[in-house]
Amino acid sequence: MIGKRIAEAKQWLEKEDVVAIPTETVYGLAGNALSAQAVSRIYAVKNRPSFNPLILHFASPAALNDLVTTIPLQAKALMEAFWPGPLTLLLPKSERVPDLTTAGNQLAAFRMPNHPVTLELLNALSFPLAAPSANPSGYISPTQANHVEEQLGQSIPYILDGGSCRMGLESTIVGWLNNEPTVFRYGALPVEEIEAITGKLALPVDHKLQAPGMLSSHYAPETRLVLDATDEEKQKHNPQDIIEMRFQNQGIGEWEKIVLSTAGNLAEAARHLFATMRELDNKNKRIIFAQTVPDVGIGKAINDRLRRASARN
Ligand code: TXA
Ligand code: MG
Repeated sequence: MIGKRIAEAKQWLEKEDVVAIPTETVYGLAGNALSAQAVSRIYAVKNRPSFNPLILHFASPAALNDLVTTIPLQAKALMEAFWPGPLTLLLPKSERVPDLTTAGNQLAAFRMPNHPVTLELLNALSFPLAAPSANPSGYISPTQANHVEEQLGQSIPYILDGGSCRMGLESTIVGWLNNEPTVFRYGALPVEEIEAITGKLALPVDHKLQAPGMLSSHYAPETRLVLDATDEEKQKHNPQDIIEMRFQNQGIGEWEKIVLSTAGNLAEAARHLFATMRELDNKNKRIIFAQTVPDVGIGKAINDRLRRASARN
């Protein structure tokens, strides 16, 4: 059921059940991060591989005190600058965080989301919420309550409706490898803003333990998505069979097209990206053609998601 009752979401969570919650990035599938029962339920509902760890969410940085062993100075500076907001930090977990929540990793992922409804919910709870994006594993993340309803509505008791997600792309993930700040996932907070505080970030490297959000095929529609095809390639197809998602302008060709931001604004394109991919997927065409956007700011995260959406494992 979709609704706006924070008290009802709280009741389910206190019973170790799971509910969907809004954030400024995407909707999350939330459960008590300290309860093995709730965390197992999250993995089951999403059909998520058990090696893919979850992010812990809370309403105040003070909640971190008994969840981590140490906090690097740079991490403190980033929290002050960007929390609440779309930044997830990887920090060494304390014993209070169950191994199940971090899939056995000694680092856990932490974030203070910036959505008034979810902050109110978190403030009313005595535990942090583990919350992956509220989509079946591998599919496009939901940015509206009805996206969650369509796919997980039968499996969860409540979807807390907080409207359309303001940013539309998942949080940026930063951790420290040998004291070196490293991006683990491009996301809604531009790396340039983080680097203004930390200095140059190391690039995502192929670490097995952090794999999943970095798996090559992820955030993917059912329909084949082809990136940056030439006009000649598109024209080889029957216009009825294809559909195109473009960044700024209409381009050429007879087939149906959707433009993400006529003003050429990357933040607007990010906000519309996942909802548009779902809409195009539901048209059951043979191919979705898409194009990469300028590779700056949030554009890096848009391009990252488009590449993964186009990859086939
Ligand atoms: O914006 C977001 O981050 C959303 C909202 C709901 O907060 N959440 C989200 O969660 O995107 P999820 O589970 O879909 O993606 C989390 C990513 C995964 O790629 C996971 O592998 C990585 O974070 N991750 C989580 N814990 C980690 C850890 N301890 N070490 C390395 N990577 C971790
Ligand atoms: Mg996800």
